[in-house]
Amino acid sequence: MADFRDKVVYQIYPKSFRDTNGDGFGDIPGIIEKLDYLQGLGVDYLWLTPFFPSPQNDNGYDVADYCAIDPKFGTMADLEELIAKGEERGIGLMLDMVFNHTSTEHVWFRKALAGEEEYQKYYIFKDGIPEQPPTNWQSKFGGSAWEYVPGLKKWYLRLYDVTQADLNWDNPKVREELKEVLRFWKNKGIGAFRFDVINLVSKPERMEDDFEGDGRRFYSDGPHIHEYLKELVKDAGIEDFVTVGEMSSTSLEHCIRYSAPKEKELSMCFNFHHLKTDYKNGDKWALMPTDYRKLKGLFMEWQMGMQKGDGWNALFWCNHDQPRIVSRMGDEGIYWRESAKMLAGMIHFMRGTPYIYQGEEIGMLNAHYPSIEQYRDVESLNYYRILLEQGKTTEEAVATLAARSRDNSRTPMQWNGEKYGGFSEAEPWIPMSAGFREEITVEAQQKDSDSVFTFYKKIIAMRKKYPVIAKGEISFSETGTDMVLAYERMLEGQRIVVLCNLDRKKQDIKVDGEWGSYRILLGNYKQREIDMEKEIYTMEPYEFIVLGNVEEM
Ligand code: NOJ
Repeated sequence: MADFRDKVVYQIYPKSFRDTNGDGFGDIPGIIEKLDYLQGLGVDYLWLTPFFPSPQNDNGYDVADYCAIDPKFGTMADLEELIAKGEERGIGLMLDMVFNHTSTEHVWFRKALAGEEEYQKYYIFKDGIPEQPPTNWQSKFGGSAWEYVPGLKKWYLRLYDVTQADLNWDNPKVREELKEVLRFWKNKGIGAFRFDVINLVSKPERMEDDFEGDGRRFYSDGPHIHEYLKELVKDAGIEDFVTVGEMSSTSLEHCIRYSAPKEKELSMCFNFHHLKTDYKNGDKWALMPTDYRKLKGLFMEWQMGMQKGDGWNALFWCNHDQPRIVSRMGDEGIYWRESAKMLAGMIHFMRGTPYIYQGEEIGMLNAHYPSIEQYRDVESLNYYRILLEQGKTTEEAVATLAARSRDNSRTPMQWNGEKYGGFSEAEPWIPMSAGFREEITVEAQQKDSDSVFTFYKKIIAMRKKYPVIAKGEISFSETGTDMVLAYERMLEGQRIVVLCNLDRKKQDIKVDGEWGSYRILLGNYKQREIDMEKEIYTMEPYEFIVLGNVEEM
């Protein structure tokens, strides 16, 4: 298997990264233009969210053709140029395979609608009457998970948008089609894949109502999931590729199986439990301050559990579905810089492969849109309506979106201080973040040796330099407070200690006797004397420290 432990993945949301043809919509030539920047940052793979032909109802996660490029993003020749120029710089591409569902514009679904039985078997159609969906399952974007087609007198399952029909993986033909897609991209020179909500693809044979939840317990990590994944990876010939599965509402036990090398399924998994620690009663749309005890507990459980089971974590805070982490768990004000660095360091030194989402490396903030007019995301627009139906005022609904909307991360990349941040000369498809300021741009931060950007560069370089970061064992230390996370990494005599204060306030921590003999390898406070000889050390707000007995950079 390809070694992915010392690699760093950078996620690009092409639509919001860089627009070169002035239509306000990012494109593949825009990624080519920024390759030198990405090489300078030091990343190894670029995960590109879908750029395939699509009606864009879910920003490309509604794929109408898996083996072509949507003209809005460019051409196949552009992609080939990106592959070649990336390769010259030691940067590989990771393509996003959306195999749980297709767009209803996909030719398979169109044929199914036209009455071709063979293609109806590609999806999950159930006979029925319009008044009675087959089950009470709920769509992840709100409302029923079933859609009725009067002409066919059938319902089809769609766990996401009405235009995203779930594929029937129990049909071997569907699995063959999807293997062909992987082979197509493999032949183009792609060496890494991300699989969208891959743990949802195996649905139960008998579908029943869920009286405890929205139905997810029946199809998450479903009955044949491990078998199907093994088959897909083997038959498509991608066992040696870097692969990551997005796992929705999964468990540690399943993630060990998905990612342990002996299972030959995937290289690693994304799970989202740590990003639900500010959901009240597990409800994304019910706001609550972060439960830090739970957050810390989850990191400890998943890090130790995956290590024990020989599994591998994808380490991340941000992606195109999540609000910006600095706005969420850091500070947008005076500690913006410190908190952005601490949050970065906290995950990058853990056991796993780190992912950076575009703009995270400069500490970008949430969108702070003042009204519903600025929002574009189908989930946000649906939930805005649902929140109003539930009796919330428009102010409350806008405040909820401001905290939770996926559009928080989809605002244009902030390259420079121009009107549209150097993303485009034309008005972008989605407004700039209201948090856009000169200080939070690539141009400003590249010149600043103390910037968030410079810090990211350093932590990526450290991963390459000290094998203990990529390969060491992890263990956690007791700090006496939920607000400070402390862990150690160990590899043959090399040892590093990582201390993270998640709090806006100072925190006292008990110092381990041994730390006094370690050097400070990295910190997020300038010219600070750190005395680890004392028994108690007072951490500054959002302070981050890496100590170690390894050689200094
Ligand atoms: C997860 C993707 O990250 C998200 O953006 C998308 O809406 C759903 N899967 C459905 O494809």
